Order: sequence, then C-alpha cells, then structure tokens
Amino acid sequence: MSRFNGRVAIVTGAGEGLGLGIAQRLGSEGARVTVVEINPVTAGEAARILSDQGTEAGLVLGDVGDEETALEAVESTIQRWGRIDILVNNAGISGLVAPTWKQTLEELDRVYRTNLRGVFSFCSHVVPQMLQQDYGRIINVSSAAAKEGFPLAAPYSATKAGVIGFTKSIAWELARTGIRVNCVTPGIVMTNILNTLTPKQVEAVVEKSPMGRVGEVREVAAMVAWLASEECSYSNGAVFDVSGGRTSY
Ligand SMILES: NC(=O)c1ccc[n+]([C@@H]2O[C@H](COP(=O)([O-])OP(=O)(O)OC[C@H]3O[C@@H](n4cnc5c(N)ncnc54)[C@H](O)[C@@H]3O)[C@@H](O)[C@H]2O)c1
Repeated sequence: MSRFNGRVAIVTGAGEGLGLGIAQRLGSEGARVTVVEINPVTAGEAARILSDQGTEAGLVLGDVGDEETALEAVESTIQRWGRIDILVNNAGISGLVAPTWKQTLEELDRVYRTNLRGVFSFCSHVVPQMLQQDYGRIINVSSAAAKEGFPLAAPYSATKAGVIGFTKSIAWELARTGIRVNCVTPGIVMTNILNTLTPKQVEAVVEKSPMGRVGEVREVAAMVAWLASEECSYSNGAVFDVSGGRTSY
C-alpha cells in the first residue's frame, strides 16, 4: 500500500523547485495535494505535471504572507477532500544579495513576510483542523543558512533561523497530540533560487561541502516525505539536515 493513500497535503511554493519536487513525491505515494503558489504561470504548469503523474491536485494562487491565502487554502482543501494531514511550508525567497548595511528595513520586511510570517499564518490556520483529526504532520523548510549564517543574506538567514525557533515552539505546544512539527535545513540544492546568488557564492558553498556537490531536489523531497509519514512519530521540533554534511550540528 502507498504511504500517503487517503492523505491530503498542502504544499506552499509548489510551482517549481523543492516545493514541486515535494508535491510530486507525496503525490506519487498517493497523497492529494493543494498547490499554493504566487506565480500563476508555474502554478498552472505544476498542476499539469501533477495531474500527468496521476495526482489529484488543487490550486490556490496567492502570497503566503497574506493571511487570506492560508484561509483560502484551508477552506478549499477541506471543501474538496474533507481533511488536511500534511502541511509543507516551503515557499521562501532569498532576498537581496548585499551586505547588511546596504539592505533596507523594507527588504527585511519583504523577506520576513514570505519566510516567517507565511509559515506562522499557515500553521495557525491548519493546526485547528489537524487538532480535530488528532493527526497531522507539518514540515517547515528552513535552511543551512539559519544555522551557519550566510554572508550577503542576513534577512534570509535570520528569518530561516526564526523558522527553527517557531518550529520548536509549536512542536512543544502540540507534543501531546497526534501532530508532529519538524523542519529541514537544506544546503545548496539545484533550483531557480540559485539564480539569485552570485556564482561565487554558490561556488564557495559547494567548496565547503564535505561531499563537494550541490544537492538534488529528490534528496530533500525524500526526507520531507518521511517527516510527512506516520512513521515519523517520535521526532518533534527537530531540525533535519539535508546539506551533504555541511552543517556541523
Ligand atoms: N535551493 C536551495 O539551495 C535551498 C537551500 C536551503 C533552503 N531552501 C529553501 O527551500 C524553499 C524552496 O526553495 P527553492 O530552491 O525551491 O526556490 P524556488 O525559487 O525554485 O521556488 C520557490 C517557490 O516559492 C514560490 N514563492 C515565493 N514566494 C512566495 C510567496 N510569498 N507565496 C507563495 N509562493 C511563493 C515561488 O514562486 C517558487 O515557485 C525555500 O524556502 C528556500 O529558502 C532552498
């Protein structure tokens, strides 16, 4: 039997990259998936890719930083399939590549809206449904940059570190329920987000990696799929590294 038969997932930022790979992986094992995406072009394409692989998919177009997007995702998913078992808070942006003193408060707010406010909003609106079911798996996508810092990307690193603190707090709050909340910290993975970094930045990170290579989307998706499964029962508020051994803790 497939691991996610009968399960219903919401994946944010699933138009491309890691989010799409995660949606495809969950779908390939039987999950029905609501794709939440700000970009209508990639959103439509993702829906087509999921449907082509035989995955039932719903689509919510919107910015995860707007509370209405989470409300619509929850309402439409419950209307369509009656439950929400898995939430993957994947949508994220890297922000301006510049030293902190050349960044602005407006830029910090912009990165925060997607990377942390979006995670908070989706969790707060999905958890009541999961509590009713007394079952749920939430996976927040943080970054190795949260643990190590990332020069020229202080708003990104800081908001991703916030995702870890948030994950640990809500996991503790839910520990005596059937809901588990964990996060992953990918290193460098080959997606479009890398186009926002300079080749020098990418090279520097690859050089630091013990494996000497970037990660692949499927490698992160495999970890997320386990965290989204019933088998992940005694891990909660934990940070799962997918960085080729780059982060040392
Ligand atoms: N690729 C990496 O090297 C890497 C490393 C560590 C962490 N991450 C994290 O993984 C997640 C996915 O990154 P990716 O590499 O697939 O990036 P990506 O840019 O390829 O994909 C991100 C997706 O999220 C969508 N999105 C962005 N802002 C949104 C918003 N406000 N509302 C809804 N959708 C939004 C984008 O349109 C895009 O489809 C991000 O949170 C990122 O920070 C990526």
